Amino acid sequence: MDNDTKSFSGVGNRDADATDPALYYRAHIFCCTNRRPAGHPRGCCAERGSEELRDYMKEQAKKLGLKDVRVNAAGCLDRCELGPCVVIYPEGVWYSVHSKADVDEVLNVHVKQGGRVQRLMLQPDQRPPKG
Ligand code: FES
Repeated sequence: MDNDTKSFSGVGNRDADATDPALYYRAHIFCCTNRRPAGHPRGCCAERGSEELRDYMKEQAKKLGLKDVRVNAAGCLDRCELGPCVVIYPEGVWYSVHSKADVDEVLNVHVKQGGRVQRLMLQPDQRPPKG
């Protein structure tokens, strides 16, 4: 094995007929609650209220009876300037969530109804506005 393939050694061993196990959670929601020191050039989601929004999302998911959904606090997701950042798997859809109303909309439209909240969605190539 050469150095180029070494880091991917596990991928090549996957049986072509192998199937992934069923999902453990229908939706797994990660909310960045990373906090950096004040004045950090990238800022952080916590200084924009992500901890309160994550707590609210967890409460609301419970109130909506979303038993097959998990809301977790996450460390930095590396899109700090666009936060507070939330990513929902297995879809891998990202949102920038700034208020309790945004949380309600993401839970109701995306998680409960299977839709998408276009106005809050982050695109893969989206970069922070130049300041
Ligand atoms: S601090 Fe939230 S994405 Fe980095």
